[in-house]
Amino acid sequence: MTYKIAILPGDGIGNDVMDAAKIVLDKINLDAEYLHGDVGWKFWCNEGNPLPDRTIKLLKESDCCLFGAITSKPKEEALKELNPDLRGKGLSYYSPIVAMRQLFGLYINMRPCKAFEGNPLNYRDDIDIVVFRENTEGLYSGVEFHPLPEDVKNALLTHPKMAPFKDVPNEDLAVSCRVFTRKGCQKIVRAAFEYAAKFNRKTVTVIEKPNVIRETSGLMVREARKIAEEYPDIEMWETNVDAMAMWLIKNPQDYSVLVTSNMFGDIISDLCAQIVGGLGFASAANMSDTFCVCEPTHGSAPKYAGQYKVNPTAMLLAVKLMLDWLGEKEDAQALENAIAAVIREGKVKTYDLGGTSSTLDVAQTVAENL
Ligand code: NAI
Ligand code: MG
Repeated sequence: MTYKIAILPGDGIGNDVMDAAKIVLDKINLDAEYLHGDVGWKFWCNEGNPLPDRTIKLLKESDCCLFGAITSKPKEEALKELNPDLRGKGLSYYSPIVAMRQLFGLYINMRPCKAFEGNPLNYRDDIDIVVFRENTEGLYSGVEFHPLPEDVKNALLTHPKMAPFKDVPNEDLAVSCRVFTRKGCQKIVRAAFEYAAKFNRKTVTVIEKPNVIRETSGLMVREARKIAEEYPDIEMWETNVDAMAMWLIKNPQDYSVLVTSNMFGDIISDLCAQIVGGLGFASAANMSDTFCVCEPTHGSAPKYAGQYKVNPTAMLLAVKLMLDWLGEKEDAQALENAIAAVIREGKVKTYDLGGTSSTLDVAQTVAENL
């Protein structure tokens, strides 16, 4: 079967690193059809939609997607750059990657953070963490109000803790809801335990803050405890998110699989990325049970756009995750080995590693090592 793979480079360096991915994909010579899709800032400005319907259609017809990066800007700035013909039509900018996660129910965001041997940017050389971040709910579910509608305020006032805000004018109140579902908690925790079981990992650390955010974090931790009972060979650790930020600096080598909700996962996974070399090394797979979007976790880095200066490793590791998801285990492993070899040799390296090689030089060298 020929795979259909959607290729969405997006904005800025998303294009640079996607070109790097293509070099490696050409060498792997997968039986695949690569379908280009429009996404990003240009389509917001020109069409009022950063994720056009034709792209959604393309994604629906594809087996999986490789995504570059997009530019996103706050509400007012986005409106200023919108094509004048489209203004005043109630359009508002949204993040296409967040939209894709919600539209396709990509409830898992898996981010491996492994210290490759010889990477001078490693904080320590013995780090091998995989973060499982819930990807569709929580504080990023988009249920937000400003100004606060009167009926929402009245509903909130049924909670005694809302009393101090009673006399604040609605236009001076902003509320973002942290929505957790039992099923959402179960699914992300199960994904983490399944991964740990499959790859023989000894611990799963649940990161929340149930002593303060009692209802949402509480639900996650309670569900996690139940699921953990099904995996007697794996130890479950519970850590508060603030403490976790310290532990990950103090003893990152102690941790293996981490699981948490959307915003905490966003923050913790960036922390984990930095201790293994930073954004140039951080990739993620956004997954449901039937679809997958793999991406480097960095953004569009406008100041480097089109210069082919940035490190393509994160993108090449995203290709590896995509191959894993497709079940092409041998190609996936070969690609990781080739990436590891280039890092270990340390000859061809981009600016972030103190080198002067281009994005495409690195990809070419990885391809030669395949
Ligand atoms: P960014 O990740 O684009 O870049 C921050 C800095 O990290 C860069 O200036 C560069 O010094 C370094 N960097 C990033 N990728 C690198 C690479 N592959 N190799 C070497 N160094 C690298 O984050 P920033 O500047 O905060 O955001 C720029 C735009 O990207 C914004 O519009 C933001 O909203 C968007 N963004 C998009 C994301 C996505 O598409 N998933 C994720 C994060 C930000
Ligand atoms: Mg992030």
